[in-house]
Amino acid sequence: MTLANLTIIGPGALGILFATRIWQVFPHVSLLHYDKEKARRMETSGVMVVEEGNGTVLKAFPKITANAKEIGRQELVMVLVKAFQTSQVLQDLKVLCGPETLVVTLQNGMGAGDILARVVPGENLVLGVTMHGANRRDERTVVHAGSGDTILGMFHPGSSDINRLEGFVRLLEKSGFITYLVQDIYPVLWKKLMVNVGINPLTALSGLRNGEILEHPELVSIQEKAVSEAFTVMKASGMDIGMDFKEVLALVRKVCKDTAENVSSMLQDRIKGNQTEIDFINGAVVRFALEAGTDAPVNETLCLLVKYFTSTGWNFGLH
Ligand code: PAF
Repeated sequence: MTLANLTIIGPGALGILFATRIWQVFPHVSLLHYDKEKARRMETSGVMVVEEGNGTVLKAFPKITANAKEIGRQELVMVLVKAFQTSQVLQDLKVLCGPETLVVTLQNGMGAGDILARVVPGENLVLGVTMHGANRRDERTVVHAGSGDTILGMFHPGSSDINRLEGFVRLLEKSGFITYLVQDIYPVLWKKLMVNVGINPLTALSGLRNGEILEHPELVSIQEKAVSEAFTVMKASGMDIGMDFKEVLALVRKVCKDTAENVSSMLQDRIKGNQTEIDFINGAVVRFALEAGTDAPVNETLCLLVKYFTSTGWNFGLH
């Protein structure tokens, strides 16, 4: 099955990366913005991806609008807004979605899928992760800082609805995104959550790049404690990802090394003075702990610290 059209909600780094690459092979891609004036400017100028490694530039001219009605019913919608903005796009989803529209989220952390499930039937909802690193350079330009896999699975594990994703996966592959489908996405989401738990708040609090965390024994120790707590909470929630704690910690450290030069998404938010996704990352661990009748004091403290510094606007003098 080939797709007739698709819309990406969210004009951030990932939204522009996906829209620009997909547009090269599929012109029926639209980008839904939250701001009318910015949407108009971006549609006129086009959007752009610069490859960090070799400086290659890719330009695209998708339809960009702030009015979902101008786009209308879609076969597939990708939700790429920040996790804490998810509830703000539910009204637009009602306009863009028909009874068969697939809605795909690749948002960080845990919890955005449950918010989408308020208006998207579970059989149409697709959860996933992407390991691509992208930094916003200006309104229309994104720097593609690192590649990785994109993994997708249905909100209801094991559902045969996964076969409906075939055309989309082919399109992503054609657009240069290595993509896998899995029957159960939840172990993948937990693995990514633990990576984010052990990297994002530490970079956001220290102002360091991902790789630099490992040069500081104090941060390495906090990382181990936060990930250990998340691992215990995951086990208490009945989830098995087929890895022991040592392997998970090794994975977190490997991601620090593999993405050593990355400014994490949470540090990018802090530098811009924006709200962060802490409630959907370390905050999710705290919520799962409460549900399992326990607590997660290290993750709770990291949440409170990130929120405190966000509220004061202090950002290391970086910009
Ligand atoms: O949120 C991020 O920045 C990314 O998920 C990760 C893997 C930590 C790399 O920077």
